[in-house]
Amino acid sequence: MLSLICSLNNLLAWVIGIYTFTHTICMIVRMGLRNYARKPLDLQKRYGKGSWVIVTGATGGIGEQYCVQFAKEGFNVVLIGRNKEKLEETEIKVKEASGSVKTKVVVADLGETVEVGFYQKIYDQVKDLDVSILVNNAGWGECCHFEDISLDWHLSNLRVNAGAPTMLTHNLINHFLSRKTRSALINVSTIGNNAPLPYMGIYCAAKRFLTIFSYYLTDNYGDKIDIQNLTPGFVSTKIVNNYNGPDSITPEKCVKSSLRDLGQEFTCLPVPAHSLTAQMFHTLYRYSKPLYRMLLVNDLEKRSLKKYYKDNKE
Ligand SMILES: NC(=O)c1ccc[n+]([C@@H]2O[C@H](COP(=O)([O-])OP(=O)(O)OC[C@H]3O[C@@H](n4cnc5c(N)ncnc54)[C@H](OP(=O)(O)O)[C@@H]3O)[C@@H](O)[C@H]2O)c1
Repeated sequence: MLSLICSLNNLLAWVIGIYTFTHTICMIVRMGLRNYARKPLDLQKRYGKGSWVIVTGATGGIGEQYCVQFAKEGFNVVLIGRNKEKLEETEIKVKEASGSVKTKVVVADLGETVEVGFYQKIYDQVKDLDVSILVNNAGWGECCHFEDISLDWHLSNLRVNAGAPTMLTHNLINHFLSRKTRSALINVSTIGNNAPLPYMGIYCAAKRFLTIFSYYLTDNYGDKIDIQNLTPGFVSTKIVNNYNGPDSITPEKCVKSSLRDLGQEFTCLPVPAHSLTAQMFHTLYRYSKPLYRMLLVNDLEKRSLKKYYKDNKE
């Protein structure tokens, strides 16, 4: 009996070992193919020549790059943001990058409200355009102690990161479904959508919402709409105080990776370093929370928690 149990244990160990080994090899091969061999699709052909892309949070960082890169691909661009002057600066960059595409600026503070009337006003400004792609990019998150900060601050965070994508997607979904060609929707989530980054619980929860929302949309509308769940690690922009370490990439690189995967991959992890970090976060959070907290809490405290309290409390 004992020898039977031993041989069953051995067999199980072998099965787990072979599975883990194969899984790791497949992951590495897939990561290599995606990053070094994959060619982007012909986006104009796929989504309609001369159609429009809507980008929220178009005033800088990743959003600005989406506007520029899509314009280079020949798409007209609707730029949504809360600061008119900054939007006009991006608009100039879009024109410089492409020359011939049309642009439209829509000023809206997405942290203000999730009322239907507010989003109807945004929709009224784009309803006559052949919109083929929506990029839910606007977002913000800062490290803080949950209990120290006003409820409105947290709610505003949820309105921008989760409310706005829901409202805009709802406004556009029937239009997308009625188009002859395919449409696309990119939700900009984060690497922290799998496990809460210390001091950023609300932000990560809102981004997790976006990821689940993306799964839901792809399950239900995947035959007509390409959904992308973009989950970057560090991108050197305002939101991370332009952090520029070895694990960070430029917004240009981030968006190029997103366009490379659009229509071909549901989750876009822009570069191998982000894939490995995501894997590490997930494994540490699951199997060694103390180590996860030790590595990240110290790191985040150094990077932003102290800065946040310095800027806002002194
Ligand atoms: N950078 C990273 O490491 C990183 C990693 C993972 C995910 N992300 C996500 O990537 C997206 C873009 O961020 P980013 O890195 O490009 O940072 P960013 O440069 O700070 O850009 C954020 C954009 O969102 C806009 N925004 C913020 N609150 C808004 C509001 N209430 N109404 C309208 N627009 C608002 C900002 O407008 P203003 O210019 O007016 O502030 C800005 O255009 C965000 O969703 C972020 O969560 C970033």
